[in-house]
Amino acid sequence: MCGIIGYTGKKQVKPIIIDALTTLEYRGYDSAGMAVCNAKEKRTDVYKCAGRVRDLSKKCEFKDINSTCGIGHTRWATHGGVCDANAHPHTSGSVTVVHNGIIENYKDLVEEFDLSGSLRSETDTEVAAAILNHYYQKTKDPKKAVKSAVKRLKGTFALVILFADIPDVIYSIRNVSPIVATLSDEGAMLASDLTALCQFTDRYFVVPEYTIVELRKDAVSMWSLEDNEIIPEYLTMNWEKNSAEKNGYPFYMEKEIMEQPKAIRDTVFGRTKGGIPNFKADGVPDELFTQCERICVVACGTAMHAGLVFQALVKNRLHMHIDVELASEFMYSDPVIDDKTLVIAVSQSGETIDTLEALKYARRKGAKSLAIINVRGSSIARESDYVMYTNAGPEIAVASTKAYTTQLTLFYLIVCKMAYLRGVMNDDEVRDCIRSLKRVPEVINNLLDERNAIHVIARGIINAKDLFMIGRGLDYSILMEGSLKLKEVSYIHSEAYASGELKHGPIALITENTPVVALVTQERIMSKELSNIREVKSRGAAIALFIKADLIQQSTREFDTFVLPNLPDELMVFPASVALQLLAYYVSSDKGFDVDKPRNLAKVVTVE
Ligand code: G6P
Repeated sequence: MCGIIGYTGKKQVKPIIIDALTTLEYRGYDSAGMAVCNAKEKRTDVYKCAGRVRDLSKKCEFKDINSTCGIGHTRWATHGGVCDANAHPHTSGSVTVVHNGIIENYKDLVEEFDLSGSLRSETDTEVAAAILNHYYQKTKDPKKAVKSAVKRLKGTFALVILFADIPDVIYSIRNVSPIVATLSDEGAMLASDLTALCQFTDRYFVVPEYTIVELRKDAVSMWSLEDNEIIPEYLTMNWEKNSAEKNGYPFYMEKEIMEQPKAIRDTVFGRTKGGIPNFKADGVPDELFTQCERICVVACGTAMHAGLVFQALVKNRLHMHIDVELASEFMYSDPVIDDKTLVIAVSQSGETIDTLEALKYARRKGAKSLAIINVRGSSIARESDYVMYTNAGPEIAVASTKAYTTQLTLFYLIVCKMAYLRGVMNDDEVRDCIRSLKRVPEVINNLLDERNAIHVIARGIINAKDLFMIGRGLDYSILMEGSLKLKEVSYIHSEAYASGELKHGPIALITENTPVVALVTQERIMSKELSNIREVKSRGAAIALFIKADLIQQSTREFDTFVLPNLPDELMVFPASVALQLLAYYVSSDKGFDVDKPRNLAKVVTVE
């Protein structure tokens, strides 16, 4: 969703903004814009358009922009359609604003401040700009204006503000929607997202909520709404430089699929001692896992699917009660949560608003919380009692891949840790599991070497309109994610079905050559799975079978098959998921789609 960048310093700002907005493209957007300070004439110049960042770049190609301070924005339309006028920045009087989030009471404010005749766009953001300008004209004091204005705004916002008569200074304030900032020898910067800062610095701080931040060329200051000075708490990024670049791959998705062995290794690293999971470095106490009576996972999209795999493992290994809830449904489903519940919020970005709100709700009900997050210092990480970070590095492609498999990695470590602490598994059994987990990167590497065979299977389904993915137990959980991947990037309608359910409805949809992807990795249910596969085959389905090497039999040779390298059954989720990611990737890239930025989707979803 919307992306924000702001810079004031020694360098020309235009290329900095264009580069940062290009980096932020992955979040999903439909318009782009920037505003630059014209210090000499005490003016703010705005350039914006519907379309891509390259359209914005073209638009200001021949403009004589000589400025070292400015703000930029990529917009994902919420209020008002996609057009130049609705693109950010928005100006009202002396004030120019870019905004992420939603001002819920903007209609009331239009009436109260009698703005309807003066607005040039349909956005809630322009209303925020008008309110800021209203207070600025009254006070001529930027801090007072920001303070008075935000008291009137309801909703979520990250506002970044230029005042025409205060050249080269950027102000910002936020509620929920994130802003990270930094100060270096080159100047001061802020952004909605770490990926936009990581090519400039590895030090940053998260702007606290309802805190006024002021960026000058050589200083960053912050104040609370009560005017107390606040000192930035700097964090260090653990992302390698250039890790947010494509490094020769045509798409980030392919790069990120290929990075999974390293990402998994990095996620396990430092989290075992003597072969037993150890979360000391994460600061997570054992009691978190011993004192809970039930577990509840809240997450969205791919992260929720990681929770489903965890659920299967928890039931199987720990025999514990565990719910996995779509975060967007959680609060409205009267969940059974109490102080004996461990709530685990899972999120790559750490900013998904539904997950954040679900976590807050669970905490209000007394639950203890753990967050599994990829982006350090993100909102969900800060909201949770404890955090464990996946060390996947920046994930840029909208379709999540390495974040998912590193979430699975942490979940697997947590299951082993809980089984150990709760006396369900002994030392040797746990060590054995961890040894197998440590083999996962090498096994994925072997699979990646065979990826051309998956490309061949992808060619066979490229023209499909509908496709089914069938499996049982853990295979079904894996397929839910495989199916989502295919939908997201190839636009093929794909449904994952528990294969035993087929005969209760969906089998009516199987006709001659309907493509069906079948997954068989679990020995204990394999014979039933194979019967289900034959049921659809006998109705004409074109089967692509992904099967664990050890489970191949004479009778499975009748299908088009991709052989998955062996691991213990409960770890087969890793090679199987990577295979399905590759399948989706090849279909999408062969269709000539923009794999990394599927239509209508956003990487970071900050609206409910
Ligand atoms: C969006 C992304 C998905 C992601 C989901 C949850 O829908 O497109 O890839 O799984 O949000 O995101 P999170 O950052 O919370 O994992």
